[in-house]
Amino acid sequence: MDVRDIKGRLLLSRGTPVGPDHIRIFKIWGIPQVEIAGASDEEAAAAPSPVDPAWLEAARQEAEPLFILTEREHPAISEIFNQAVQYRAARRTLPPPDSLPPEELSAPVKEPDKDFLEKFIDQDIALPEIPSIVIELNEVIADPLSTADQMAQVINKSPSLTALLLKIVNSSFYGLPSRVDRVSLAVTLIGTRELSSLALGISILSIFKSIPSSLLTMRSFLKHSLACGIISRLLAAQKALRQTEQMFTAGLLHDIGRLILFIYFPEEALSSLRRARQTSDRLYLVEKKRLGCHHAQIGKYLLNRWRLPLIIESAVCFHHEPAEAPDPVPAAIVHVADLLVNALGIGTSGERLVPPIDSRAWEVLELSPSCFEVVIHQMLGQLNTLEFLLPEDRP
Ligand SMILES: [Fe+2]
Ligand SMILES: [Fe+2]
Repeated sequence: MDVRDIKGRLLLSRGTPVGPDHIRIFKIWGIPQVEIAGASDEEAAAAPSPVDPAWLEAARQEAEPLFILTEREHPAISEIFNQAVQYRAARRTLPPPDSLPPEELSAPVKEPDKDFLEKFIDQDIALPEIPSIVIELNEVIADPLSTADQMAQVINKSPSLTALLLKIVNSSFYGLPSRVDRVSLAVTLIGTRELSSLALGISILSIFKSIPSSLLTMRSFLKHSLACGIISRLLAAQKALRQTEQMFTAGLLHDIGRLILFIYFPEEALSSLRRARQTSDRLYLVEKKRLGCHHAQIGKYLLNRWRLPLIIESAVCFHHEPAEAPDPVPAAIVHVADLLVNALGIGTSGERLVPPIDSRAWEVLELSPSCFEVVIHQMLGQLNTLEFLLPEDRP
């Protein structure tokens, strides 16, 4: 369709190739995003055709201010920046607009609520009911003697979960050579613990319905979460960890504490967002200052209450401070995955700037920055096939 400004004035006719000058004009006129024919994630991932230097320069200028909190000479950051520029240039889209309109940014913030976590626990907020299947799945995971048949029986109790899992199992996320049409076969092929972890993450996120649209959209939040889950799984595979699916779930649920803030404490969430924008501080640090706790600690509380495996709970709890974790590797994986997703600008969970890397955590991972290119390429392909897990944006 034609690109028009807020008053309907024509800026670019449909079908016209978009160039750097158009982007400049779109920015001036406040056009946050335009649709480019044929620029899907999959195509962008599959066709690394040479990118116009002008596009690269435009993308570099877009990315620079987002990396102000990072140490650009760090080898991992340097490569992530490079990849972020390539990705943004190849997609030929402008970065997503800030979810907060300019007038919101300057609005006063409400008084902080220091002992938030204690109050949150005491208030016993009526969270949506955890499906009984989650409890049963946890029991299956926790029991070293549980069999593939027992696991399949639990999942088969929920037709919707069964259908969803089979769809995931048959997607390129697993890339199995032949079609899997029953859960018992999926369990045998993928593994009891792995499939149940996947089912856990999906079941938990699906119980939360919507975020107030004044903050951000559920689709955007879930896209950030899903991309982080996929990258966490890919990095775990690079590290040859056995718990790749648990790392997927940890990445998927890493910001669940923020989801709680957005849904149940929208006023506080808005104040924290405002303060972070006004001070160019990281949202997680603003939460910590204002509430005496941050979203990762709220997430840990929830996952502990729901009795999720310890590796997931710990990775979620320490994803912003991975070196503090008793076992830093899982937390470091989610930490790096989150950083990558923020750098690429895939969805958002409210953090606008790319967070700095925890260098001790990076050392623990013993990864080479050269792995990022292939990880991003694979993630984009998988994200595309798992797109059906994301809800449509409500108007
Ligand atoms: Fe986070
Ligand atoms: Fe995040």
